[in-house]
Amino acid sequence: MTQATPVIQMDHVWTYLGQHLVHKDISLSLGRGEILGLVGASGCGKTVLMREMVGIQRPTKGTVKLLGEDLNAISAVQQQQLRNRCGVLFQGGALFSALSVFDNVAFKLRELKVLDEVLIERLVAMKLSMVGLSATSAKLMPSELSGGMVKRVALARALIMEPEVLFLDEPTSGLDPVLSEDFINLLSELHIELGFTIVMVTHDLDSLRDLCTKVGVLAEQKLVAYGSLDEAIDCEQPFAREFFHGKRAQRVFLNLN
Ligand SMILES: Nc1ncnc2c1ncn2[C@@H]1O[C@H](COP(=O)(O)OP(=O)(O)O)[C@@H](O)[C@H]1O
Ligand SMILES: [Mg+2]
Repeated sequence: MTQATPVIQMDHVWTYLGQHLVHKDISLSLGRGEILGLVGASGCGKTVLMREMVGIQRPTKGTVKLLGEDLNAISAVQQQQLRNRCGVLFQGGALFSALSVFDNVAFKLRELKVLDEVLIERLVAMKLSMVGLSATSAKLMPSELSGGMVKRVALARALIMEPEVLFLDEPTSGLDPVLSEDFINLLSELHIELGFTIVMVTHDLDSLRDLCTKVGVLAEQKLVAYGSLDEAIDCEQPFAREFFHGKRAQRVFLNLN
């Protein structure tokens, strides 16, 4: 894969779940280092699209290439190797509730069975510090964490394998505006430092403005806009119009329009 190879490329993706048509002929391409913000009404298929990008779910028709590899044309082992190059923060950022913060973040490394505990300890401490958590928080259980800390631990867990691509499904949902802004700033700093590509499902207009290099709007089973934020703002489709021109949007985008 060369520098110019898209990190994600979807061509003519159709998804049926039972009789229900979720995606109708979706094509997109995302370059290295970009940050894609995916928006759309609840239930429109954002999570399913993201799962297809990372190969956890298969579309009914069409091709998905991740890091230059056609997910349909490679073995299960190769798919797993590709997934190891991705970090995923699922919707809700769920941690394993029976495991400590340390064990949650270390989980993937231990699964690999190639590193000794001393090295794992160092790597976990490094990732916790990267997301702004102290070494003492490693001993805590998920039930002892605040909402903002849960997101940070989930992010540390997603970063543990030094991913080339980070998939974040509504990473700031449930956070108040201040914590949400902190989290977006953290992502922005990490993106500058580590240079990964991000795909993020979000309803958060501030994230779209401050973080994303590309915006995709999913509506009526299609990508009705895919490009710059300005292009999404200009989209005439009713969901997009309401989303980008409602009261809240006008406040956030006042300095853009
Ligand atoms: N495993 C599944 N089986 C059947 N329908 C599903 C499944 N997962 C999601 N769906 C349906 O697919 C649609 C898209 O879901 P999802 O991608 O989770 O939406 P979003 O993330 O945009 O809120 C929804 O109508 C949902 O009910
Ligand atoms: Mg979802």
